[in-house]
Amino acid sequence: MIGTARNGLEVSISGLGCKVPDRVVTNDELRQYVDTTDEWIRERTGIRERRMATQEEALSDISLPACRDALAQAGLEGKDIDLIIVATVTPDMMFPSTAAILADALGATDAAAYDLSAGCTGFMYALAQAYGMLAGGLSKRALVVGGDPLSKILDWEDRSTLVLFGDGAGAVVMEVGPEKGFIGFELGADGGGGASLWLPGSGSRHFDDPDGYVKMNGREVFKFATRVLVQSAQDLLESCGMTIDDVDLYIPHQANVRIIDHATRKLGVPSERVVINVDRYGNTSSGSIPLALADAASDGRLKPGQLVLMTGMGAGLTWGSALIRWTKEMAA
Ligand SMILES: CC(C)(COP(=O)(O)OP(=O)(O)OC[C@H]1O[C@@H](n2cnc3c(N)ncnc32)[C@H](O)[C@@H]1OP(=O)(O)O)[C@@H](O)C(=O)NCCC(=O)NCCS
Repeated sequence: MIGTARNGLEVSISGLGCKVPDRVVTNDELRQYVDTTDEWIRERTGIRERRMATQEEALSDISLPACRDALAQAGLEGKDIDLIIVATVTPDMMFPSTAAILADALGATDAAAYDLSAGCTGFMYALAQAYGMLAGGLSKRALVVGGDPLSKILDWEDRSTLVLFGDGAGAVVMEVGPEKGFIGFELGADGGGGASLWLPGSGSRHFDDPDGYVKMNGREVFKFATRVLVQSAQDLLESCGMTIDDVDLYIPHQANVRIIDHATRKLGVPSERVVINVDRYGNTSSGSIPLALADAASDGRLKPGQLVLMTGMGAGLTWGSALIRWTKEMAA
């Protein structure tokens, strides 16, 4: 699916917040659990450390401070929000939705609230959905959250996944007008590749003795990721009548620095325009892109007037890109 934001009301981002758990887990620490080395992890993924939630911390606990910061930056309170979408594959529980839990905690009593599942692409899908509702007049002010305490579903004996992921969440407030923020979206899914990255036994399909842990074919996902990051971005830019030279800031999903480097090279983005924080957080799934946005805001790289290209990819297999003209000065 590809769409340019031409036909509805103007929509922009007015608030941004993020949160990672306090506990830092280094590569060396993971050697207690699996046969790996700091050198292997750095060389093959670019990751130095990640954050991990405690046993007591659930998605809503990590997301709530991010939501509060985003609302404060937008100058709003929970009661002003009429839509909350939480993109995640690790909700507090299957129901009630984490969005409903957050709505209650924030006092967003007038908000429609639901969770959305699109793997690590979830935040991009959620942005597009919220955009559609705002541009179409169904909502006026939306809170979009992307977050995953992914460590909760990792097998601490599987080195092929344990070293890659981390926990974190980010949130944005999206509002109607006055300026044009969102310019277009490109989203897609290839269910045929679903078993390359999946959680068997996590739903109504029967599996014998499911262990409740993420299973991944790393090489297949690597090939998929390098292809879609480039293709999705190129298709979106073309449909919006823009080129990569127009892009001021490129925010790819933070899965692996080798995947990011490949996409950056193929797209022709100068390295100073690329946001990378996978070294500090690992792959935080739906939290990855909002965390990177917040990092770019706090280091002064995200400024009003800039054209920002974001592309996510992940389980499904899914992918999604968004082009946005940043409209607000903000430090996260
Ligand atoms: C997982 C990934 C880092 C593996 O890197 P790679 O260069 O493809 O490595 P390979 O799978 O070819 O494995 C190379 C060797 O390292 C070993 N290895 C795998 N994980 C290891 C680890 N954590 N530590 C040490 N060695 C490891 C393998 O067993 C293999 O050993 P062998 O040659 O003796 O068989 C890479 O495939 C990747 O990033 N894939 C995408 C994953 C992803 O982004 N998923 C989330 C998407 S949202």
